[in-house]
Amino acid sequence: MKALVLAGGFGTRLRPLSCTRPKLLIPVANQPVIDWTLRDLSTHGVDTVILAVNYMAEAFVRYLGPTKFNMGILYSREERPLGTGGPIRRAEGFLKDGDPFLVLNGDVISSIDYHRLLEFHRENGGLATIALHEVPDPSRFGAVELDSRDRVRRFVEKPKPGEEPSNLVNAGIYVFDPKVIEYIPEGRSVSTELEVFPRLAEEGQLYGFEFRDLWIDIGMPEDYLKANALLLGRENGTKFGQDVVLDSSTEVLAPSVIGNNVKIGGKSLIGPNCTIADNVEIGNGCRIENSIIFPGTIIGDFTSVKGAIIGENVMLERWVKIEEE
Ligand code: GDD
Ligand code: MG
Repeated sequence: MKALVLAGGFGTRLRPLSCTRPKLLIPVANQPVIDWTLRDLSTHGVDTVILAVNYMAEAFVRYLGPTKFNMGILYSREERPLGTGGPIRRAEGFLKDGDPFLVLNGDVISSIDYHRLLEFHRENGGLATIALHEVPDPSRFGAVELDSRDRVRRFVEKPKPGEEPSNLVNAGIYVFDPKVIEYIPEGRSVSTELEVFPRLAEEGQLYGFEFRDLWIDIGMPEDYLKANALLLGRENGTKFGQDVVLDSSTEVLAPSVIGNNVKIGGKSLIGPNCTIADNVEIGNGCRIENSIIFPGTIIGDFTSVKGAIIGENVMLERWVKIEEE
């Protein structure tokens, strides 16, 4: 089975983190977002992934190379951004050989059961199936109205508050029959959400598959922290990398993950929900909770960090207090 992963967005809402790396290479629980997705796809029988890249394309090629988790990785590089639909048209040659394929928004982390999604798609016989997740505020997403047979009656991208058809939103995970490619105009940027889904819905060819497992779009810093906590929780416990030097009077509360070559002084309390990357040094008497610390950062004695993201190679001196958000 093939999967196309949309990886070309600029990640503007995650600046400045996305100024030096594409959004999908931002680490969650010390592993880039793309790794979580690829590992899941590989355990569900995907053998080829087409990565549709644009912004900082070479960073992906450098990090992933030609294979990962036993899957072949093909890169589709865009000269200009093609939106969420254009990249599917562009990869037509790889996708139109008959079988349905998966399309994913690469900035989404989920524990969806792809087998069940594909089964649902086959049973209903529509041209496309969208995975749906319930959220309290659909205004940042695409929201749908379903009929009693799970057919999408209406698809509304970014509905204004109060105008949403329901709280079920597009999770950015689709199964497409190759015929869907014909719905995408060639040679320009196309929004699947604005141009393709409404048409498919009108023709009664679009179905919605609701799932309740973990799902999160890491579009904004607060989502990124939430994704970090959720994945740490899913992995359970605390993981330590190699060459970690931890004073015996210091405690690390689960779930947390500590990278390689990390030093933590005495009487510090780390966690829960902390991701500490490689080559980080933390002093004595520090308090760090619900936070992500990027590689190479140094944190002085008696400094506290709560609910924050600290970028790479940052120097926090002694007695610094960093509060939520
Ligand atoms: N290759 C390529 N080229 N990829 C792109 C481009 C492009 O020009 N533009 C965006 N992408 C990728 C992004 O990297 C991301 O993985 C995905 O397409 C979706 O784009 P976002 O910019 O993150 O969209 P969104 O989060 O506002 O909304 C989308 O996702 C929601 C779920 O998270 C829509 O699909 C919504 O309907 C959906 O609910
Ligand atoms: Mg997004």
